[in-house]
Amino acid sequence: MKIQIIGFGVIGQGFLRVLLKKKEELEMAGEDIKIVSITDISGTAYNDKGIDFEKALETVKNSGRIIDYPEARKISGLEAIEEIDADLVLELTPSNIKTGEPGLSHMLAAMKAGKHLVTSNKAPLALKFKKLVETAEKNGVEFRYEATVGGAMPIINLARETLSADRILSIEGILNGTTNYILTRMTQEGAEFEHVLKEAQQLGYAETDPTYDIGGIDTASKLVILANALMGMNATYKDVKTHGITRITPEAIKLARESGYVIKLIGEVKNGILEVAPRLVQVSHPLNVGGALNVAMLTCDIAGEITVAGKGAGAIETNSAILSDIISITGRR
Ligand code: HSE
Repeated sequence: MKIQIIGFGVIGQGFLRVLLKKKEELEMAGEDIKIVSITDISGTAYNDKGIDFEKALETVKNSGRIIDYPEARKISGLEAIEEIDADLVLELTPSNIKTGEPGLSHMLAAMKAGKHLVTSNKAPLALKFKKLVETAEKNGVEFRYEATVGGAMPIINLARETLSADRILSIEGILNGTTNYILTRMTQEGAEFEHVLKEAQQLGYAETDPTYDIGGIDTASKLVILANALMGMNATYKDVKTHGITRITPEAIKLARESGYVIKLIGEVKNGILEVAPRLVQVSHPLNVGGALNVAMLTCDIAGEITVAGKGAGAIETNSAILSDIISITGRR
């Protein structure tokens, strides 16, 4: 399987680290994963026999630009998709909720070129889900996006495969690791908002533009993806009523705590309505998970309530979802 990586930030670099860590297991399972190109804003590293993972990571660590890799060309992501032979494109550029670009064009171009697509980039799906699904069908390629929602928390493939007998009636949960990390630290230690946000950025949890996290945009995007993928809706980002956590004061957190509640940024889709807002959650409630964890409660017509939780952000954790999508496309396991 020849893979092209478009976007080589925290998640892209984490992907190579995970491949290095899993090298023997993947080989034993008969997986032949070759990264034939890596594109960032500076250009594209390219080798048809496979890029050297350690060398690519070293290059970006030293200069911050993949163009300094020994075999590199000054071509963009779109040019790389069009010109380089590959089976699968891994689209990992930052989310842009205004236009979905450049991710949206990368995704459409990849599928039109007959390449499978795996992504963690939420905005294109939150804006043009139907178009992307239709393009995949029309071109006979796989389109997998488990990593767009909940990082390592299994939800999309879980609902589609394991819960395939059920209809999902509603979804409620914490879908952003950064804000959960901030609110948890503010609740448990009285830590200061700005300080914890910086920490979340350093830990690689936050979006390139962290206002996406704290403004609820990231949660809203994920909610749209879940509503469309699991409930058959045709929603877009504009359909979500969104409030973030910027107005949550330490006093409000303290008051809630004294009455046995915590404040959480909750996304909910129910009766066709999509909403993101800070809510009071009882300390003993299953939605009260801490740190960078995400949690989702699915109400199903047969199974009843199913709750899943897992690390919602992080360079390594998110790649559990990315690699599982790739493995399901290669069909080796
Ligand atoms: N910024 C996101 C979060 C990353 O904090 O949840 C994972 O989508």
